[in-house]
Amino acid sequence: MRNIVILISGGGSNMTALVRAAQAERWAERLQARVTAVVSNRADASGLAWAREQGLQTDVVPHTEHPSREAFDAALMQVIDRHQPALVLLAGFMRILTPGFVGHYEGRLLNIHPSLLPAFPGLHTHRRAIEAGCRVAGATVHAVTPELDHGPVLAQAVVPVLAQDTPEQLAARVLSQEHRIYPQAVVAWLQ
Ligand code: GAR
Repeated sequence: MRNIVILISGGGSNMTALVRAAQAERWAERLQARVTAVVSNRADASGLAWAREQGLQTDVVPHTEHPSREAFDAALMQVIDRHQPALVLLAGFMRILTPGFVGHYEGRLLNIHPSLLPAFPGLHTHRRAIEAGCRVAGATVHAVTPELDHGPVLAQAVVPVLAQDTPEQLAARVLSQEHRIYPQAVVAWLQ
């Protein structure tokens, strides 16, 4: 069986989509893969309660309790590696990762980003897409490399930017596509 660990910082709607897809599509039987644990850098991440209700193991590694990115990433790696993961999925995990962390999980670390990479890496992607006058926006699933929000693209979804869109309206349209493409990309990776 291949273990999957999901990292979140907030609501965890992508985590929910991944766990539901794993259940509905019987990843354990079909792909010999299962979501085993959810790890967060924030104790107040609301997705943690839902994960616990699903019987998943949850862990919190507070970034505020570590003096440097390297120390935080080392603690995070220790917790993740208890699960001997075949795959680590960043799902709204809002921390910049060190090259040491990325190197440790090379080839088994994926991320979802709410823009059509390589456009708009970083934060505030929806506001920036609206301000730039983009007619389309979207989301990208990619393999993680040391450079932030770069790395080979595994899946993308495109949505229209409508004339009166607020960043929140665009974010909601993109997020519903994220919930579709992230599980699809993970299945393709596992096959
Ligand atoms: C998602 O839109 C995800 O793409 C984004 O945070 C949101 C998390 O939502 N990730 C990033 O911006 C990472 N750079 P969720 O917690 O409901 O899945």
